[in-house]
Amino acid sequence: MDFKFTEEQLLIQEAARDFAKTELLPGVIERDEKQEFPKAQVKRMGELGFLGMMTSEQYGGSGMDTVSYVLVMEELSKVDASCSVIVSVNNSLVCWGLEKFGNEEQKQKYLIPLAKGEILGAFCLSEPEAGSDATSQKTTAIEDGDHYIINGTKNWITNGASADVYLVITQTHPELKHKGINAFIVEKGMPGFEIGPKEHKLGIRGSDTHSLIFNDVRVPKENRIGEDGFGFKFAMKTLAGGRIGIAAQALGIASGAYELAKAYSKVRKSFGTEICNHQAIAFKLADMHTQIEAARHLVLKAAWEKDQGQNYDLSGAMAKLYASQVAMDTTIEAVQIHGGNGYVKEYHVERLMRDAKITQIYEGTSEIQKIVISRAILEQ
Ligand code: CAA
Repeated sequence: MDFKFTEEQLLIQEAARDFAKTELLPGVIERDEKQEFPKAQVKRMGELGFLGMMTSEQYGGSGMDTVSYVLVMEELSKVDASCSVIVSVNNSLVCWGLEKFGNEEQKQKYLIPLAKGEILGAFCLSEPEAGSDATSQKTTAIEDGDHYIINGTKNWITNGASADVYLVITQTHPELKHKGINAFIVEKGMPGFEIGPKEHKLGIRGSDTHSLIFNDVRVPKENRIGEDGFGFKFAMKTLAGGRIGIAAQALGIASGAYELAKAYSKVRKSFGTEICNHQAIAFKLADMHTQIEAARHLVLKAAWEKDQGQNYDLSGAMAKLYASQVAMDTTIEAVQIHGGNGYVKEYHVERLMRDAKITQIYEGTSEIQKIVISRAILEQ
């Protein structure tokens, strides 16, 4: 076993930490308050190579491994989880999916600018009646000569209004159920494709989440990803890696809150001493640290398995399930340690607590992760 990071991994971790401190921290409270998309910060993240981290250099990416990616996700998420979900979706769901399953023309046309951060991607699976039950797609894509015609509505789409390219999961042959599902690359501005209303959210308020409406959108056949009927496998395989990114996001939210709580406990005094000297507070910090370390091991193990070319469905699901629970528990305790100040925006922990909740919901709820985990262990 080797628990050491490589020099390259340590360098990118440090670069992400510096970037988060100098360029994400200023303005993070205001962006949260105003639900403002971090446009300038996303542009910078593109320049730094954070938007195509795992994409090979040949296709405009940084050519890094998944371990480096989760290290970056953790550092960004400590400070601004709205920014890190944008990074996660573009890397894990859009660029990774296109590099793995797209054809050469699709990679040249879409993957290169996406990985360079020149344009942004979105992944569109969820529908009003197909969130967890992802096989029940109602959005249709019907063949018409050299095109497919897409009709339907997608919900809760990250980067909904800000993306340029959308990977859209649709049903073509309902009689074949999940084997009739197709995934398409849809461009913003294609006639009939409308951005629906923006969601007003509890957390990750800087990330823009919209419904999307497709009214007879004509998409050329060359924009289908993979063979006819490959769409559900595409979504599942892509999401399996996405879950590692969200697990790393949850880990970052937890460790960000923990670091703030620990620092606060060393300066805030009560009963004549710094509050970290009270066992009630010290034991909370001990629990937080232990749980975060356990989550970190699960996240890194899943990333390492992916880098080794092993199956990571189980380890990714366990990492997401556990790290998201740790994010909730840790942020709640971080608010508690801050007392009254924890309830005040300028101390950051109340935002981290609100941001933590989504990690138990998107890219497969905790209950869905338990389905994936239980099925996998019962097969062993
Ligand atoms: N890799 C490859 N194939 C997979 C797979 C995987 N990880 N998981 C399932 N499949 C395949 C199965 O093998 C099966 O194919 P075959 O019939 O050919 O064998 C097919 O998919 C259907 O699988 P199931 O019978 O297991 O399907 P199910 O209806 O029981 O559902 C599920 C499985 C795991 C619950 C799945 O529906 C699921 O993951 N649901 C959650 C969806 C989700 O994560 N939504 C989040 C939205 S995206 C998002 O949040 C992005 C964002 O913006 C942040």
